[in-house]
Amino acid sequence: MKENIKLDLPYVRNQFTALSNELAFFDSAGGSYVAESVIDSACSFMRETPVQPYSRFEQSTQANRQLSRAIEQTAAFINAEPSELIFGPSTTLNMYVLAHALSPLFARGDEIIVTNQDHEANSGVWRKMAEHGVVVREWKIDPSTGELDPTDFENLLTEQSKLVCLPHCSNIVGSINDVASVTRKAHAAGALVCVDGVAFAPHRRIDVKQLDVDFYLFSFYKLFGPHIALMFIRQEHLAQLHNQNHYFLQDDLSKKLNPGGMNYEAVASLQGIYRYFQDLSRHHFGSGRESVGESVERTYPLIARHEQNMAGQLLEYLNSHSRIRLIGLSVPDASRRVPTFSFTVRDRSSQDIVDGIIRHGVGVNNHNFYARRCLEALGIDPRDGVVRASMVHYNSRKEVDRLIAAIDATV
Ligand SMILES: Cc1ncc(COP(=O)(O)O)c(C=O)c1O
Repeated sequence: MKENIKLDLPYVRNQFTALSNELAFFDSAGGSYVAESVIDSACSFMRETPVQPYSRFEQSTQANRQLSRAIEQTAAFINAEPSELIFGPSTTLNMYVLAHALSPLFARGDEIIVTNQDHEANSGVWRKMAEHGVVVREWKIDPSTGELDPTDFENLLTEQSKLVCLPHCSNIVGSINDVASVTRKAHAAGALVCVDGVAFAPHRRIDVKQLDVDFYLFSFYKLFGPHIALMFIRQEHLAQLHNQNHYFLQDDLSKKLNPGGMNYEAVASLQGIYRYFQDLSRHHFGSGRESVGESVERTYPLIARHEQNMAGQLLEYLNSHSRIRLIGLSVPDASRRVPTFSFTVRDRSSQDIVDGIIRHGVGVNNHNFYARRCLEALGIDPRDGVVRASMVHYNSRKEVDRLIAAIDATV
């Protein structure tokens, strides 16, 4: 990987029509803009293959081919097997289905570790298992920084631990948790690992084999795609998970965890995400079209460097302001942090700050972003929440200047 190659930002921005408006958009952690190639893929699927994909006539087999391609490419994107993927409407619902499929496998006295850093999607469904005698242990954040300390995790792990749930990265704190290390320790103790990758996926490459996780979930609407979500379930667990679909589908591993089936046009449109990464790779590295796996391997480092650059710019300002309390790491190290920045301002409500920033044509938001337990642990009123300014690689340094000027004028 050539260290000196920089992300060609005008090229990137051209792939997102939504960027042509005047708004400096810093709410991608809520939902990113959609790449043009995704919109094209969705439209052409609906136009050219307007039929259900499981009949034997030509249009239907074409639809089926498109879906198979999208599923194979998704597998390559995260280094999984196509049979290990479930496409559901959202991470919250996928997590709900997973919890129901797993829960009959837990016995009274079994232990689950959850964090108070997570979005509620990877928390509430597991905590509810306490109603059936499962012991829920909480891996708590440091209340001043929002970080999870790995030593605290080791102290919670016991011979009764059956499942560990954590975020790859929090949608509030922005720090990257060392999932591979957690998985190693959890597996050694006989526990499975479930990771929420929603806040991580747009920023760094996901490799489920390298992470060695059992369950990994994220949502495509944060990854330049449509409003659907992926659940990776390691092959060896599929057979024993309890059926959540019609009784006669219990032996169909591709269907039993997907009640209602998948949204065909949305799944087909995922090809547009992978085409975007492939085009990005070809544009920067000049070779022919590579496999999806190769292209994400090459392009994510470019993305990380550009993000780190913008993160440094914003952090320099946020760190210099005595009335601003930044949550999470104050250094822009791309290996430890993604560019999702949450902060509060002394003696001001977050709502007030956001109203002020928006007046300058800058899109940010304040909320607890459904990581309510995280905010409560940080001592922040979850009704007012934090001010969150989140970037992805299509943002520019000029936009960060606008963001800083808007914060400064408001604060
Ligand atoms: C970290 C994180 N996890 C889970 C979710 C929930 O995803 P979904 O809206 O697909 O249920 C979100 C949504 O904001 C999130 O930021």
